[in-house]
Amino acid sequence: MLSAKMQQALNEQINAELYSSYLYLAMAAHSEAANFHGFGHWLRIQAEEEHGHAMKIFDFVLDRGGRVELKPIQGPPTSWESPLAMFEAVLAHEQHVTRLIHQLVAQARSENDYAAEVFLQWFVDEQVEEEKQSDQIVQKLRQVGNVPGGIYWIDQELARRKKE
Ligand code: FEO
Repeated sequence: MLSAKMQQALNEQINAELYSSYLYLAMAAHSEAANFHGFGHWLRIQAEEEHGHAMKIFDFVLDRGGRVELKPIQGPPTSWESPLAMFEAVLAHEQHVTRLIHQLVAQARSENDYAAEVFLQWFVDEQVEEEKQSDQIVQKLRQVGNVPGGIYWIDQELARRKKE
């Protein structure tokens, strides 16, 4: 059985993951409207992954006999000044999510909730990967600067992302 505090924290994380999905979907819409279909493709897959993260926690709360309480999802921004600014926002958001996951692990440890701690390990590992991926894109965009050909090359590279 989940403690009331752990249940609330996990429900807040469901909301944070759904917001992540919403944010990346907004970025996909913005990218595709600007003819960056590779960025859009990558971000659509990312949005689906975030929805999957929310559902993993959703199922865990139910498996532990808890109550899932869905809260309103904040509206994301709708535009970014450049692909670099957008992917810097992705990286900053993932760093924020990492801090949230680490707070959840700390909460699980403080309660000796071993099941939650083991469950959250997947998210700890996932955040390492998510920060690495978005940081690599930021680094590439910085390397090509504002040269249009360079940005289109990265756009085409991101178009090759496969669903996991
Ligand atoms: Fe579910 Fe990208 O954190």
